[in-house]
Amino acid sequence: KQLDVDPDAYDAGEHDSFMHKEMLEQPTAAARVISGRLDERFGTGHLGGLNLDARELRAIRRVKILGCGSAYYVGQMGATLIEDLARVPADAEPASEFRYRNPIVDPDTLYVAVSQSGETIDTLLAVQEVRRKGGRVIGLVNVVGSAIAREVDGGIYLHAGPEVAVASTKALTNSFLAFAMLAVQLGRVRDLSIADGRRLIAGLQALPDQVGKILAGEDELATTAQRLAEAESLFFVGRVRGFPVAREGAQKFKEISYRHAEAYQTSELKHGPLALISPEVPTVAIVPDDELVERNVAALHEIAARGGPLVVVTHEGVDLGGLSCERIVVPANERELDPILLTIPLQLLAYHAALHLGHDIDKPRNLAKSVTVE
Ligand code: AGP
Repeated sequence: KQLDVDPDAYDAGEHDSFMHKEMLEQPTAAARVISGRLDERFGTGHLGGLNLDARELRAIRRVKILGCGSAYYVGQMGATLIEDLARVPADAEPASEFRYRNPIVDPDTLYVAVSQSGETIDTLLAVQEVRRKGGRVIGLVNVVGSAIAREVDGGIYLHAGPEVAVASTKALTNSFLAFAMLAVQLGRVRDLSIADGRRLIAGLQALPDQVGKILAGEDELATTAQRLAEAESLFFVGRVRGFPVAREGAQKFKEISYRHAEAYQTSELKHGPLALISPEVPTVAIVPDDELVERNVAALHEIAARGGPLVVVTHEGVDLGGLSCERIVVPANERELDPILLTIPLQLLAYHAALHLGHDIDKPRNLAKSVTVE
């Protein structure tokens, strides 16, 4: 059982930290989580561990995702995938808040608990609250045999391998892929066409190599990260699919660089936070080549007009309209799957900022890898 292994027994090898090692392991870890779980013939996921047959999958009316920190942010990405592909209403909520508001637990809702460690007490207690009220919970868990894995009705193991660094990277990426497979499977027992199912499966198969390509550009990102590290305060902005990406990017930056990093919907800047934009406050903007690209670019010009330095994470060919910024280009996949590719450079930015500042990358101050007390 991975849980009992002493992290000190692991070796970061040629890497300066476990975080670096774990980031670079993402292509192989991602290939592992999809292995044997994609059905090309029917264009669907093959997730036996859910313990749900087609009729039960069909009967699900809502999906509620529970997790803490990064597990909550990837849960938000998962909710969007499920709504997009299966057209089942879905949302994510911090597991730490859930049971304190006397939640309505509905038998037609599928509850999904996300946890790398499988030991986070808030997530475990949320699972127990759902089950106590007769709800059905599945787990997206990395550590085999952990408390949450034992408590749930079924689930998808993340197969990311041991994650030692406090800042979660490969487990988060694999959680996204697990959500994508779940969303395709839920979609394919409803109205998602076989063509769309196959399109997404091909996208999932291409994804590990694309993650590798982004990681190969690490050196170029290091200089940008060092510049960002000089700022006391930063914004991370995105819209719809890009917003949880921004939240996760800000989380990583806060966690290991100790800089104030605030995530905002790009569309909401003009309703308040634009007042904070200045040459001292950089913004990292998520601008995929999607239906919102023009609106996103227009908002970035508002930031530039106030002297705000900009780093734009985007796709090849996106017209930024002469915007003065640093551009980080990631490979494009299917639109629904792009969020995880847009997330990878943000891990590298946080890591290189923390390295530049001389922080303990794997054990940031005040934080534990897994929070097992309330
Ligand atoms: C991630 O970088 C954080 N260290 C933190 O938010 C973490 O994701 C959270 O504590 C949940 O942990 P878990 O996945 O083990 O439940």
